[in-house]
Amino acid sequence: MMTMNSHTPVMVREVLQLLRPQAGEVFVDATVGLGGHAVEIASRLIPGGWLIGMDKDPKALDLAARRLAHLSGAIRVTMVHADFRELPQVLRARGLEGLDGVLFDLGVSSMQLDNAERGFSFRFDAPLDMRMDTSQPGLTAADIVNRWSEADLRRVIAEYGEEPAAARIAHAIVQNRPILTTQQLAGIVARAAGRRGGRIHPATRTFQALRIVVNRELEGLQEAIEQAIRCLKPGGRIVVLTYHSLEARAVKRAFQKLSGRCICPPYVPTCECGAERLIYLLTPHALKPDAEEIARNPRSRSAQCRAAERVEETE
Ligand SMILES: C[S@@+](CC[C@H](N)C(=O)[O-])C[C@H]1O[C@@H](n2cnc3c(N)ncnc32)[C@H](O)[C@@H]1O
Repeated sequence: MMTMNSHTPVMVREVLQLLRPQAGEVFVDATVGLGGHAVEIASRLIPGGWLIGMDKDPKALDLAARRLAHLSGAIRVTMVHADFRELPQVLRARGLEGLDGVLFDLGVSSMQLDNAERGFSFRFDAPLDMRMDTSQPGLTAADIVNRWSEADLRRVIAEYGEEPAAARIAHAIVQNRPILTTQQLAGIVARAAGRRGGRIHPATRTFQALRIVVNRELEGLQEAIEQAIRCLKPGGRIVVLTYHSLEARAVKRAFQKLSGRCICPPYVPTCECGAERLIYLLTPHALKPDAEEIARNPRSRSAQCRAAERVEETE
């Protein structure tokens, strides 16, 4: 996540302290976005390093590539249009066996939020799209609100939006079809949720839920983080920034399992989760942005930063 109008990345000081990028190292920014973190990491890989930026939004990749262009004489810079779930294939295709560091800054970028026609935000009236990857046709938020059953809408709004008024909102959506634009939807949700004067807009949770479904944001997230850990060299570092509790839960489970602590439910007699000790935690508790950063960049307020380091082979 980044600031409204600039390209200031979230918790950049903490991210750099935890990742410790050094000259000649190989790093992946798995969610390169507009390259805010990537440019900071890449400039520390000089000389001779390699920065691979991945994103499933082709527009973000173009902007990140431009932002990093001035470094490409001093290090290798590669931009890959791919989902971060494909990280092992991306590395294999380039003959890479182990990474010194990997960063995940999950969720949407400010460019996606602030670009009216992407349909992520109810601050602008736009068609309900919300796809991060616009390079191919795929499920949009309009498909969900206009075609899904009331029961399915209620389930995703409750589960992915953690919205207490999910039943009322799902009912109102079905009653008001067709719903074509962000502000039309926001109005319907606000009237159904019936909350006023809270810190967040009453439609925020519903928009979050739709965005998560459209982009399959939680599907395989824990496994993607585990895969990335397996791609680290001994001593390699991983940092993950999350912005809501569902993302945070997936990351915590991946870190717990691969730091050797079983994540099986208590009723399972013998461990089945495959816990093994590949990492130690650099952040036993998630770090949060300080008050100064939140004041400067209000969108950072929900950020949590978790980091781990791959154990040496002899440990
Ligand atoms: C919060 S932004 C990253 C901002 C970036 N750290 C910066 O400083 O500019 C998250 C980015 O991750 C991308 N993204 C989200 N899920 C992804 C996935 N599964 N695979 C690849 N990219 C993804 C989004 O398109 C978005 O550009």
